[in-house]
Amino acid sequence: MEHQLVVVLDFGGQYSHLIARRVRDLGVYCEVKPYTLAPAKLAAMRPVGVILTGGPNSVYLATAPRCTAEVLSLGIPVLGICYGAQLMAYLAGGRVATAPKGEYGRVSLEITAPELPLFAGVEQTSTCWMSHTDSIAEPPPGFAVTAQTANCPCAAMASVERGLYAVQFHPEVQHTDFGNRMLENFLKTVCGCTCDWKMRGYAEQTIAALREKIGEKRVICALSGGVDSTVAAVMVHRAIGRQLTCIFVDHGLLRKDEGDQVEKICKETFQMNFIRVNAQAEFLGKLAGVSDPEQKRRIIGETFIRVFERESKKIGKVGYLVQGTIYPDVIESGAGDSAVIKSHHNVGALPDVVDFEEIIEPLRMLFKDEVRRLGLELGISESLVWRQPFPGPGLAVRILGEITPEKAALLQEADAIFREEIAQAGLDREISQYFAVLTNIRSVGVMGDGRTYDATIALRAVTTSDFMTAEFVPLPYDVLGRVSSRIVNEVPGVNRVVYDVTAKPPATIEWE
Ligand code: XMP
Repeated sequence: MEHQLVVVLDFGGQYSHLIARRVRDLGVYCEVKPYTLAPAKLAAMRPVGVILTGGPNSVYLATAPRCTAEVLSLGIPVLGICYGAQLMAYLAGGRVATAPKGEYGRVSLEITAPELPLFAGVEQTSTCWMSHTDSIAEPPPGFAVTAQTANCPCAAMASVERGLYAVQFHPEVQHTDFGNRMLENFLKTVCGCTCDWKMRGYAEQTIAALREKIGEKRVICALSGGVDSTVAAVMVHRAIGRQLTCIFVDHGLLRKDEGDQVEKICKETFQMNFIRVNAQAEFLGKLAGVSDPEQKRRIIGETFIRVFERESKKIGKVGYLVQGTIYPDVIESGAGDSAVIKSHHNVGALPDVVDFEEIIEPLRMLFKDEVRRLGLELGISESLVWRQPFPGPGLAVRILGEITPEKAALLQEADAIFREEIAQAGLDREISQYFAVLTNIRSVGVMGDGRTYDATIALRAVTTSDFMTAEFVPLPYDVLGRVSSRIVNEVPGVNRVVYDVTAKPPATIEWE
């Protein structure tokens, strides 16, 4: 089935994929493409609208990312946002200049052309989100100024006849009061979108495209049992069935019973070609005596690769390797010069050892909650779709210091109790991530008539929208009390439970 398409041309802005996501939320299928996409190729995609994103550059810089003016003359409505707005002005013959005063954050916006279709239903004065130093100094011929702020006389401009609209502020950011309304106006009124696209459409379309692309070739997938890799695998499985083999490496540091659950879902519910590699002993053997967190990550990453390599060799040459990369992974791994706090994502090196032609990443454009919606569309159970994120190295980064099989078993029990109580209290959907940590603190306690000198379990529960920052959750004391009492009573070797009330930053979510 054909869908209306909006193309977001990405000029390197922070919010490019957020724009795409807002468009999809408004019921229009949307793809992000690099700004280098040739106008002829863009036209061939037959989009009903194009959005030019923000970007960190100044349009006059020799190295600035620029498309050609042809993009504005394809007869397709265009909305330029921030840098995209300046670029539109520049390409159409206007002038951009460094403003005497930049604007950052919430700014009062005044609409000066309330009749503009883009501003239907938008109050004359409202708050918008700005982040710029340059701005449009002179709109191009044929364009009219349509909004202003105290420091930005041209906060928006338009050429209604040509279907060209530009806003200096960010309508995709929640802090812009009527941002979503403006995007909706652009889509519905300017581009004529029917806004009836649903995640189901994405699933169908992607499955059909995967089927065509893969043909008769074999495909393998490293399945972790997490939401992303499972949704990616199910999608590919829908497309090509038993040509897909999923390999699940059990490193012995999963949550309680998780390995069995993953196996059951894949084999029984989805009837996949599924190989479970029970490599617990191999992993724990290599980790023996190691207490440095980064070294643990390295060992797990490397061992994972070796095990996967061994298993994939048994399959022989494959056409494609499926990865459940989602959009936030793309930003995190491409974050450039930012300091490495933790070396995440141990599947990154897989491509080097598997004999395959190409990687397929069917979720690369989606945000986590979109992946969840897609998972439900594909018939994956709520309990799996709502599974909280779990780090690749698993409990290894939640057992402080040296790892032993006994410690892993102890932590699995304590963690299972915590999860059970959180679910029982109906809090599981509200909390982004919650888990138990086995600290390397031992303390004195008294149980019965005897003195104990046992381990301390720390509990962590955080909310976050992007996992880059996080808040601790003020869990009700009665829930904390119940969890604590159950853990010390039911898990031998633990005599104390503490609750972590630190935000990220300065702490991180995991303890290691
Ligand atoms: P931190 O602890 O850095 O965690 O605040 C942010 C998010 O990343 C997860 N995490 C990892 N994921 N491999 C992973 O795949 C890792 O080594 C790793 N360390 C942390 C963490 O659970 C949280 O969701």
